[in-house]
Amino acid sequence: MPKVTFHYDGAASTVVAKDGSNVMRAAVENGVDGIVGECGGQAMCATCHVYVRAPYLSVLPPLSEEEDEMLECTAAERDGERSRLGCQLTLGGALEEIEVDLPETQI
Ligand code: FES
Repeated sequence: MPKVTFHYDGAASTVVAKDGSNVMRAAVENGVDGIVGECGGQAMCATCHVYVRAPYLSVLPPLSEEEDEMLECTAAERDGERSRLGCQLTLGGALEEIEVDLPETQI
């Protein structure tokens, strides 16, 4: 089962998710604060913005044009390739484990 670790304010919270789920769903379903997921994962709200930690950047799915555009609308500053939409990071396969930092705000 895929694992996601969320880092925020010096604390870390690791949750287990289902194969085929995504980083946004893993947060929302496990009550992790700091991810809103307002559009339900349609890449239309940017309230699931995360900063992916370096060791996991090489196993991420490619950035789609749609996701790239939404990342220009995040409430917290975009941080290069580390910035992704959690709802676009499908868990399982190459992405069995990931660690992300949460931005200061999503709204
Ligand atoms: Fe809306 Fe990810 S949940 S963009």
